[in-house]
Amino acid sequence: TVRSFATTSSRQNAIKTVTVIGGGLMGSGIAQVAATTGHQVVMVDQTDDILGKSKASIQKSLQRVVKKKFAEDPKGGEQFVSDILGRITTQTDSNAAVANSDLVIEAIVENIDVKKKLFSSLDKAAPQHTIFTSNTSSLPIGDIAVSTQRQDRFGGLHFFNPVPMMKLLEVVRIPATSDETFNKLSDFGKAMKKTTVDCKDTPGFIVNRLLVPYTIEAMRMVERGDASFKDVDTAMKLGAGYPMGPFELSDYVGLDTMKFILDGMEGSRLHPEGYATYPFNFPLNSDTPSSYEGKRGYVRYT
Ligand code: CAA
Ligand code: NAD
Repeated sequence: TVRSFATTSSRQNAIKTVTVIGGGLMGSGIAQVAATTGHQVVMVDQTDDILGKSKASIQKSLQRVVKKKFAEDPKGGEQFVSDILGRITTQTDSNAAVANSDLVIEAIVENIDVKKKLFSSLDKAAPQHTIFTSNTSSLPIGDIAVSTQRQDRFGGLHFFNPVPMMKLLEVVRIPATSDETFNKLSDFGKAMKKTTVDCKDTPGFIVNRLLVPYTIEAMRMVERGDASFKDVDTAMKLGAGYPMGPFELSDYVGLDTMKFILDGMEGSRLHPEGYATYPFNFPLNSDTPSSYEGKRGYVRYT
């Protein structure tokens, strides 16, 4: 079902202040778009030095937007950028950063223990009404949410890189997510001018469930000597209409993050390696024979 307009009551309760934790590739993009769409944003990272770089990357991205949107109106462009930057403050103390927050979006390193430790601490610091979300690519939202006492106010908001350009937002619910929370998250996504899709908390949600096994298969193809990196990328761009081939895209996502995502999916019940042969939810582990010539060693970036 498509809902174009928020109801009056949900508009009154709408999310206005957002805390984005992690000011890396994704966090800075999320902060930028949230501020562009009128939200008050607090962006958190570990050091002021990192946060300086996050702000610089937001500024750079906004310049690219302005170049197109305000081609004939440079003064208007300057105002646009300074209004958006004026809505973003930075903080290194995540507990202090959630004090007035309606919504937390976590975009830190793809590591379940680090994410759980963060949320457990935020749960004590944040107001009662604050909704918590993770932008995780591959970890179960439910496994992160157990670190809090607010599972009814917990969900997933999965954005895509580059956030200012990619139109999709996956809104993920766990069984405990209340309807009120889920509706607020969907309304927030629309307020961010994204098209939202509803997802259950299954490995990789929708996009990565399909994209990650595809990427791994590309790695195996090169590993087996069936084709070169360059030819695989060229083939998928020109033969399937993808804007980037799987290797170019892996690099764009970040090879370190890509490795964490592969590990995250490996830890889940749907191992991409079992994708072709085994029924979903088959509990694959390292003793399970691979569907690929008995070989497991897809390319690992370490
Ligand atoms: N900020 C603002 N504007 C941007 C931008 C950014 N970060 N990146 C691109 N643009 C805009 C600019 O206007 C740019 O023009 P300029 O270079 O003159 O500034 C314009 O887009 C065109 O960009 P490019 O010429 O560099 O390249 P392009 O036409 O190929 O578009 C792209 C770039 C939109 C990134 C496109 O290549 C693309 O869609 N790539 C695939 C991205 C993708 O699949 N993302 C999902 C990754 S998976 C994921 O995110 C989930 C996960 O959990 C890992
Ligand atoms: P990144 O490495 O660019 O940024 C992560 C940032 O988090 C870093 O700046 C780091 O200093 C900071 N950080 C780490 N631990 C922290 C903590 N305890 N408190 C505060 N800040 C902390 O990574 P990214 O690509 O932005 O990915 C972030 C999350 O988003 C991951 O869960 C990733 O799986 C997910 N994601 C990534 C992409 C992608 O294309 N890169 C797309 C969608 C989702």
